[in-house]
Amino acid sequence: MAIQEVINSAEGQCKQHRADHSFRVMYLARKIFSAELERAPEEIRQKPDVFVEVLDWAAVLHDREMTTGEQYDFTHGKKAAERVDDIIGAAVDSDGKELIKFLCIFHVPDDSEITGLNEIQSWLLRVFKDADALDRVRFDNSYTLGENYLRFEIAKTLIPKARELWERTRQGFDLPKAAFDAVFGNRVE
Ligand SMILES: [Fe+2]
Ligand SMILES: [Fe+2]
Repeated sequence: MAIQEVINSAEGQCKQHRADHSFRVMYLARKIFSAELERAPEEIRQKPDVFVEVLDWAAVLHDREMTTGEQYDFTHGKKAAERVDDIIGAAVDSDGKELIKFLCIFHVPDDSEITGLNEIQSWLLRVFKDADALDRVRFDNSYTLGENYLRFEIAKTLIPKARELWERTRQGFDLPKAAFDAVFGNRVE
């Protein structure tokens, strides 16, 4: 299973954003995706599986290259995008890989700094950023979740779920494979 290989390859790569974060972003992105699908751009409605796979890979890879230090690593999205071809190989076609790179790069900058997106990019990025933001329930510092910043109303309703998911998956899952096995074993779906 290709995703599992990527998870393994991400193992131990990031001290701050561990595998359990990737898992929760994947889970939450899927939730938002299916809730909003009716209102998604036509191409996404016609081939939802293709775009769910793009979101899955972005969830696994987006923070993989992040360095931890006193200052926030603003380059980690670009660094993650540079690894996409190597890591994913032929498991996803080139259009899909371009979208995965796009999500890796653009999950970092503020919405106000991003312009000129097409309809598909814009919709997917909103789904992905809300999923990533929802996992901020894990912080109780200046990074904590600001409900008003969530882009979809459905994401606001997922806050209790995000918190519960974090409680269930936050400990002991430093290794990506262990994280996913434990979560799926616990039937967190
Ligand atoms: Fe990030
Ligand atoms: Fe993240």
